[in-house]
Amino acid sequence: MNNNFPAIRPRRLRKSPSLRTLFQETAFTLDDLVLPVFVEEETSDFAEIATMPGVLRIPESKLAYEIERYARAGIRSVMTFGISHHMDATGSDTWSENGLVARMARICKDTVPEMIVMSDTCFCEYTTHGHCGVLHDHGVDNDATLINLGRQAVNAAAAGADFIAPSAAADGQVRAIRHALDTAGFSETAIMAYSTKLASSLYGPFREAGGSVLQGDRKQYQMNPLNRREAVRESLLDEQEGADALMVKPAGTYLDMISDIRAASKLPLAAYQVSGEYAMIKFAARAGAIDERKVVRETLGAIKRAGADIILSYFAMDIAENGVDY
Ligand code: PBG
Ligand code: ZN
Repeated sequence: MNNNFPAIRPRRLRKSPSLRTLFQETAFTLDDLVLPVFVEEETSDFAEIATMPGVLRIPESKLAYEIERYARAGIRSVMTFGISHHMDATGSDTWSENGLVARMARICKDTVPEMIVMSDTCFCEYTTHGHCGVLHDHGVDNDATLINLGRQAVNAAAAGADFIAPSAAADGQVRAIRHALDTAGFSETAIMAYSTKLASSLYGPFREAGGSVLQGDRKQYQMNPLNRREAVRESLLDEQEGADALMVKPAGTYLDMISDIRAASKLPLAAYQVSGEYAMIKFAARAGAIDERKVVRETLGAIKRAGADIILSYFAMDIAENGVDY
């Protein structure tokens, strides 16, 4: 044999679609996906979000219809975000029995009881200042916010939410919520913590979608994106505090953190492909620069490969209707 030719040829396993599929290490399916939804009160029309083409704000009056449509398409789980018309300094609508957080959970569970409802648990969409908690002179007051997180969590659980998903980035939020839930008799309600939440610039389109009134940034409470060790520490703290599942957010630019946390914890791990990641793909595809469906498959596949079990993505409904493009 001519020594200049290789004996080892990885191409042997790439020759045909069947071979490539047989030897593919990672796959994701609709079963892994959670669809985030934006629900606006006191309006009767769907509204387009200019920075998130294809995503609509759902009027509360049409939420039941939408949930049925998602369920029929094969979506198993949604994460609910409210667009409030009842903001105040603390976001008190979130712990009102008839507030938007409670109504969203009730509508979803009443319409499709088997739909897994995750209630995003924060205040930024319900506060007049747009911060994720109680604002004091020097920023968000961590411990005052914990008390309100407990109230909101109990309210959402009473309305039927399956998961409380705290995204306020408050220290001790999982412990405070677990304690509040257990004390109120909701020991069966689970917590999916936004355990490693970065102070990312990829949330811009979401803030537009939610009509955010935020001035400044969230760097005093969300994590520095350049801290890989701290990312693991944050998630492990939430595990110790009693989280049922962990999350990294955003996803695609933090695959190292997903991989590290996967290795450091046995808990289920979610990753959130956020609005900016969605927008980058949509706008590049619209400009003809990339093939949207192939890039969706590649990016969600990468998030899965890095170690995420569950992915929150605005593409979930598209995948439900059209499948994954191989
Ligand atoms: C804040 C929150 C954010 C998102 C959901 N809830 C981030 C932020 O505004 O700081 C972003 C989701 C997305 O961009 O898709 N509690
Ligand atoms: Zn928030």
